[in-house]
Formats: sequence, structure tokens, C-alpha cells
Amino acid sequence: MHKIAVVAGDGTGPEVTAEAVKVLKTAAEKFDFKVETTDLDYGGDRYLKTGEVLPDGAVEGLRQYDSILLGAIGHPDVKPGILEKGILLHLRFELDLYINLRPVKLYPGVETPLTDKGPEHIDFVVVRENTEGLYAGAGGFLKKGTPDEIAVQESINTRKGVERCLRYAFEFTRKRNQEKTLTLCGKTNVLTYAFDLWERAFNEIGEADYSDIKRDYAHVDATCMWMVKNPEWFDVIVTDNMFGDIITDLGAMIQGGMGIAAGGNINPESVSMFEPIGGSAPKYTGKGVINPMAAISACQMMLSHLGEDAAAAKVEQAIVHVMSKKLKSMNAGKMGYSTAEVGDLVAEEVAR
Ligand code: IPM
Ligand code: MN
Repeated sequence: MHKIAVVAGDGTGPEVTAEAVKVLKTAAEKFDFKVETTDLDYGGDRYLKTGEVLPDGAVEGLRQYDSILLGAIGHPDVKPGILEKGILLHLRFELDLYINLRPVKLYPGVETPLTDKGPEHIDFVVVRENTEGLYAGAGGFLKKGTPDEIAVQESINTRKGVERCLRYAFEFTRKRNQEKTLTLCGKTNVLTYAFDLWERAFNEIGEADYSDIKRDYAHVDATCMWMVKNPEWFDVIVTDNMFGDIITDLGAMIQGGMGIAAGGNINPESVSMFEPIGGSAPKYTGKGVINPMAAISACQMMLSHLGEDAAAAKVEQAIVHVMSKKLKSMNAGKMGYSTAEVGDLVAEEVAR
């Protein structure tokens, strides 16, 4: 029995999450395992009603589940930062979800803005550190609001945090068994403390325990260039929190858009959280036009994480089938189907 907490969240989150849950339940039936989903109302509406972003005990409560499926966080009536920090980042930190795993895979039939590139070129995974770096919240103001104001925002990189992320990335590269190349994306030419630590740890760990994995290095700016020019060069990329945030938006674009990009916030030893990486897209709320594929892909990643490999493979095949054979476009309002119809198509294919 897999116990899943469903945090549908804000904007179009509930619409896309409903389709992911539909596919999850269909997969459970087809592959003969049990799932129990529990809806949790964390998000902007709850915050506006109660004044609290998360109720007392929310984090402890979430630890009792096998996985969390998240829709989207971000509400037009709530000041930017409150919900992101109070819910999404808070859960990443408190549940110690130290890996943000973001596959960048172009499926057949999906349009990419990169001319001359196809599914054979765009298939890599970004392993983003998810609890440290510039996101750690270190820093502050001096003389705020005066002409002499100083704002400092520091990047925190601990040997422990960097090392566990690198080890995860090496193991992942080994298991993925493709080019067996792990690229460290950094900025060793300028950020000479933070990425010195990353680079030393990368080489030490790689040399000692992962001699079967080829190590590569690219500065973050060059990584952006290669992702556009030669995405086929990448197998697995490992990087810090901020760079990972930025390059995975670029990754989402080259794989066909925010409507289909998914990610996992992972703690390999504890509960993990899976999410479509696009936002809550408030302008499309309730219209039934948003693409639920990213949420369905997040569900597929969750199934794989839960050890339901056959179900995960089937869901992926169904996603590919529907995207390449049915949908006219991956963009909201242009799919040729409603949000729920897309979910139905995927569920039908899973059940077949
Ligand atoms: C993401 C998002 C978040 C991040 C925001 C919403 C805090 O952009 O998951 O990539 O910066 O990590
Ligand atoms: Mn982001």
C-alpha cells in the first residue's frame, strides 16, 4: 500500500493534479498495487482564510506518507515569496529533500525550439542540490531603506551537503547506464570558494568510488550554451541550487515547455515530493485548458521512486503515445483536448 499526500495547491494545480491522480489510480488497478490518496489543502486559499501558510504539525504529518504529489504553489492575491518560502522551500528544507531531480527529455512528436534537434539529442537529467546554496537564506540587510543600504545574500555550501548530492548524482549516472558521463556545472573561474569545494569533492569522490563514470565540467554559462547548441553532449548534470533552478527552466523549454516538465524533490531515505515544475498559471485557472502532462510525468517519477517500475514504464509509454499521436500542441488551450480529456487519454492507454 502506497500512502500518497496530494497537495494540489493553487491556480491550475488542482486541475492538473486531478489528472495525475486519475492516472495513478488507473495504474494501481492495472498493475495490482494499492494506493491511498489524502488531499491536503495547503496553498494560497488556505493562507488567505487562516493566515498561516502551513498548520502546526504539517511537516510531521507529511512524514507519515510514502510520497507527496504537489500541484503548484503561487496565488495572485498573495505577495510573491510568502507561499514559495512558506510551503515549497519550507518542505524542501524541513523534509531534507536534498535532491531536485529534473529529467530533460524530448519525446517523439513534441516540438522543440531547437531546430535540427530531435529526441535522439535531448535526453539528459539534471541533479540539482535542493537545500543549500543561495536558497539557504543566509545574509541580511544593513541600513535598509537608506542610501547606504547593503544587502548580502550568501551561498552556503557544506561538504556534507555537496557530497551527498554528488554521490546521488554518481549513483544515478551509473544506474541510468547511458553515456556514464556526469558533468559538474559550476563557475570555478569566479565563485572560487563555493565551486572549489564542489570541484574537489567531485574529483575525490569520482576517483575513489566511481571510476566507471566519466567526469566532465562546464561553467554554468557554457552549460546554457551547450544545452542549446549540443544538448546530446549531456547524460547527467549535477549542480548547485541556484544554477540548477536556472538551467532547468532552459531544459524545460528545449523539451517542449513548462506544460510537460516534471521534477522530484527527493530524500532517498525518507518521504519525497513530486511536482510539475511550471507554476500555478493563475490566468488559466478553472478553464480546463492547461496541459496536465507535467503533473502526469511527476506521477510517473513518483511511481518509479516507489518501486512500481512496470507501472512507471507504462505511464511513460502512455504519455508518449498521447503526446505524439493525439495532442496538437503542448501549450495551454492549443492541445485540441481539455485538461480532463488529456488525463482520460493517458488513463485509457495505461489501462489498455
Ligand atoms: C522551482 C521554482 C522554485 C525555485 C520557486 C517557486 C521558489 O522556481 O521549483 O524551480 O526557485 O526552486
Ligand atoms: Mn525554478
